[in-house]
Amino acid sequence: MSEENFVPLHFDYVDIEEVDRRSKAIYDNLRKRKSIREFSSKPVPKSVIDHLIATAGSAPSGANKQPWTFCLISNSDLRAKIREAAEKEEYENYHGRMSDEWIEDLKPFGTDWHKPFIDIAPWIVVMFKKAYDIVDGKKKKNYYVNESAGIAAGFLIMAIHQAGLATLTHTPSPMNFLQKILNRPENERAFLLLPIGYPAEDAKVPNIVKKPLSEILIEY
Ligand SMILES: Cc1cc2nc3c(=O)[nH]c(=O)nc-3n(C[C@H](O)[C@H](O)[C@H](O)COP(=O)(O)O)c2cc1C
Repeated sequence: MSEENFVPLHFDYVDIEEVDRRSKAIYDNLRKRKSIREFSSKPVPKSVIDHLIATAGSAPSGANKQPWTFCLISNSDLRAKIREAAEKEEYENYHGRMSDEWIEDLKPFGTDWHKPFIDIAPWIVVMFKKAYDIVDGKKKKNYYVNESAGIAAGFLIMAIHQAGLATLTHTPSPMNFLQKILNRPENERAFLLLPIGYPAEDAKVPNIVKKPLSEILIEY
């Protein structure tokens, strides 16, 4: 590896007291994030979405392959198509395709096959993962595609919250209808659908709790 492949790191050094303060502030802020299922139609400028998607695109990925595409939808005809197809899949899920255990696990969330937020939120992002790349007509390998796409989705969800907006991680499975409706190439697989906007003024969220640190952290 020759020297010119590297550039100096620009790292914003902060002293450890400030690191401690920031890490607490991040926790205090991010613990307030909630998945929102009732959205306002209040407009959000496209520039905001550009910043959020660019943030997601800055995520780490296996060999920096960045195996993702973010499709942005605001057009009402396209939303209607997506909603109709998503509700069709979800209807099947809630009427026989999901196990009894799954249905039981979903009860606290009060969800059903209706997905009105697809029509209401000002923006819909459909994230695709790229199983492989196609370069000059040839298949090129991507690495750790699920891990990479999951991390980028995490960046996006965090950025949406930090910016002051809300989202839902939605998976209307099977999601191959999205590949068809959005006319994506065959190397792309729908990964998540995320409405982005303000929550509805009277939005309610399930009363759920996160596991305490003592349950999720094991020190060696
Ligand atoms: C991979 C993934 C898929 C999800 N799919 C759905 C979904 O299809 N519909 C839905 O209403 N919520 C979905 N959720 C949201 C979860 O129900 C939610 O994250 C969880 O209940 C915790 O709530 P919180 O996000 O407010 O902390 C999904 C979340 C993840 C991470």
